Amino acid sequence: MMREGQSAVINRADYIAPAYWIDTVDLSFDLDPAKTRVLNKMTLRRNADVPAEPLKLDGEELNLARVLVNGQGTSFRMEGEQLVLENLPEGAEAFELEIFTTCAPVKNTKLMGLYVSNDSFFTQCEAEGFRRITYFLDRPDVMASYSVTLRADKAKYPVLLSNGNLVEQGELEGGRHFAKWVDPHKKPAYLFALVAGQLVSREQRITSRAGKEHTLQVYVRPGDLDKTEHAMNSLMHSVAWDEARFGLSLDLERFMIVATSDFNMGAMENKGLNIFNTKYVLANQATATDTDYSNIESVVGHEYFHNWTGNRITCRDWFQLSLKEGLTVFRDQEFSQDLCFEPSARAVKRIEDVRVLRTAQFPEDAGPMAHPVRPDSYIEISNFYTVTIYEKGAEVVRMMQTLVGRDGFAKGMKLYFERHDGQAVTCDDFAQAIADANPASDLARLLPQFKRWYSQAGTPRVHGTGVYDAAARSYTLTLSQSCASTAGQAVKEPFVIPVGLGLLDADGADLPLQLAGEAAPVAAPRTFVLTEAGQTLTFTHIDAEPVPSILRGFSAPVVLEFDYSDAQLLHLLANDIDPFNRWEAGQRLAVRSAIESIAASACPAGAEPLNDAYVQAMRSVLRDPALDAAFKELVLTLPGETYIAEQLDVVDPQRIHAVREAMRAQLATALADDWAVVYEAHQDNGAYTPDPLSSGRRALAGMALTHLCIAATVSGDSVWPGKTYQRFKAAGNMTDRFNALAALVSSGHALAAEALPRFHAMFKDEALVIDKWFSLQTGAPDRGGNILPAVKQLMKHADFSLRNPNRARSVVSTFCQGNPAGFHRADAAGYVFWSERVIELDAINPQVAARLARALDRWSKLAEPYRSAAREAIARVAAKSDLSKDTHEVVSRALA
Ligand code: ARG
Ligand code: ZN
Repeated sequence: MMREGQSAVINRADYIAPAYWIDTVDLSFDLDPAKTRVLNKMTLRRNADVPAEPLKLDGEELNLARVLVNGQGTSFRMEGEQLVLENLPEGAEAFELEIFTTCAPVKNTKLMGLYVSNDSFFTQCEAEGFRRITYFLDRPDVMASYSVTLRADKAKYPVLLSNGNLVEQGELEGGRHFAKWVDPHKKPAYLFALVAGQLVSREQRITSRAGKEHTLQVYVRPGDLDKTEHAMNSLMHSVAWDEARFGLSLDLERFMIVATSDFNMGAMENKGLNIFNTKYVLANQATATDTDYSNIESVVGHEYFHNWTGNRITCRDWFQLSLKEGLTVFRDQEFSQDLCFEPSARAVKRIEDVRVLRTAQFPEDAGPMAHPVRPDSYIEISNFYTVTIYEKGAEVVRMMQTLVGRDGFAKGMKLYFERHDGQAVTCDDFAQAIADANPASDLARLLPQFKRWYSQAGTPRVHGTGVYDAAARSYTLTLSQSCASTAGQAVKEPFVIPVGLGLLDADGADLPLQLAGEAAPVAAPRTFVLTEAGQTLTFTHIDAEPVPSILRGFSAPVVLEFDYSDAQLLHLLANDIDPFNRWEAGQRLAVRSAIESIAASACPAGAEPLNDAYVQAMRSVLRDPALDAAFKELVLTLPGETYIAEQLDVVDPQRIHAVREAMRAQLATALADDWAVVYEAHQDNGAYTPDPLSSGRRALAGMALTHLCIAATVSGDSVWPGKTYQRFKAAGNMTDRFNALAALVSSGHALAAEALPRFHAMFKDEALVIDKWFSLQTGAPDRGGNILPAVKQLMKHADFSLRNPNRARSVVSTFCQGNPAGFHRADAAGYVFWSERVIELDAINPQVAARLARALDRWSKLAEPYRSAAREAIARVAAKSDLSKDTHEVVSRALA
């Protein structure tokens, strides 16, 4: 049986402004884990712009005790979970509404609304969690002024926080105390937050460029203060960056970050009181890896940047989610790039971002959950916090910047704030502001067509062909675009696609680019704007056939098809001045070899899928003194199994795994001497710093170690595994220690069995490290089906809990979504495991369950017997009664 209203579809086209506005909200909380009392006093008025209607307030899992209108009892009724009030004062006068409810935070396992984690109180209100705290118009276009009074036991909850400024605090009877907070800025309910508990803080006073003083605070549990320095530094950098790049200053006296170990997502930008998953706050060199450090920097930046893009200007409705998320991801990506001193480090960051987009968003855009950057409908909005909204949304903003230039984009942002500060607006409003600030730009000229990036789902494909005419000394490049149909969008209109372009001569240098009809050549690189289904560019004064470097910097989120020869790709890999395309050439060569081997009947042990030219090219990269370690590590990293799968029409995950493992072993053995040199040459003995250059060196050294262990496992030699184990024991930081452990695990060496328990014992009190310990094992290369039994065993470990999202993800999601060969078993046991966990989790935390449910999104591409078994497993979940809206939406779309 489905719950009533379970599959109600919300459509963007149905948007209407609210029938009432809420101007002020005065909340009082008596915090108690079992029964928290919430008194909500609001002033409301009718919205004269829309027809009169009863007031319908959202609520969920609340106990209603009392409703007063202007101090008097009133009649009300329930319509589903909404509280409906009909006999309200007529006319435009404001009236006061007082609602008294209780809720049970300790029973809140969904982690939406008010919940308890480690005996402290936290909230998560985006997207629709505020209705789990009190009855409200829980929609982002209702913006109100908040004051909040928190009352709680002082010994248990010494710290009481909410948005804005602390205006009063004091003692109460019975060992209780209170704090009153007033937020000077109007905000939608999804930005409300409170925190209460035993927390300590690192504090920093800063003076802004504008000369204003601010207090920055990072709140954590008492034992974690020594892991807050990096988050604080990241926050200070964020404040300075937004002032320098966009002229946006901190608009609050106090800005707080609080960490909690129970959190559904990464972090949340509540006004002045950001709440973070501990994973994106806590770091010191003993417990966090370089990747953790860089994730913290970008998530701290991301949430801070929301203060303007999201909070000062927010979304009119949730279909506009990318208005704030795409833009803010773009901003955090730019921030991280701008923090790099070396151009090469900026390029590395760009490659990493594109890799995420292509391995996660491209499959989403081709699967059952495909949706436009601005979706047209949803059942559960939590399902739309996706890589499409975030990462593809960021690419759309990046293309706007490409079309108007960096300064033009800053001007556009300025106009956006002049027009819309304090408002709840749409993606159209944003694009219009950027275009209007740059009236002579391609964006302004092409705006309606450009906005197809918001309305059309699916990844466009750009197909290129090149013809050299020696007699005419010209090179003609023909580019055409297409986009496969997606659900509800059979035909796609052409997109506006900026194409970064260069032509390499035989020496690998960029040729000046002169189009037929142009008076003079223009120095490369140039960006051409593809707007038609097909377009031809003819370059003149070309003395020999060039090699085109197309889509430089990944200038648009598309698949580029160009029939390069191996020689051309090797030329680009060796010479392209564009680091992205240099890396991409290596990836294309590797994908090509993988696909050939996968197509060939079998991949026997000892198979060598990679050709000599490729191996030689990799050797040259490793030996090139002009290249950074981080870039080398990216080039030497083979395309992932998921990315390879996306290049195939029919996917056999076991075959892909076998071939990729054979490729890894081949690189390990063929380059064994180079790996040894690389390892020795990248030992840093100085103090640990997580900057891009030294983390690149550690990454490459770690990669070398893995390959040396793989080669040793093939040859039966024990020297390198022994060295690796020593390294594991003696490492001075988590990155080196974890890389050594991972090398043993990933190569399948027997020493892993000694190192793993040792690692657990060393870090048994560090939850985030224990998460790594779990996910290293559940994500390890599958050998004869050994991972699923290991996963089941790990679920019996005393440290395992399905209730903690980080832990559930590190065990269950890492296996089902990060370990294709372990998961896709011919005996279907992986799918059975998945369906059981989805159902189990759904009863605890629908958001986490629905994410896990997406592990089988691409089932229809699978080869038999996987395909049928996967479909059966999805159907089994879908048949379950009482599924959450979240999981129901995911599995029903998968079966549609
Ligand atoms: N707005 C948050 C961010 O910075 C994400 C919060 C989403 N939370 C949720 N439960 N859906 O990206
Ligand atoms: Zn965000």
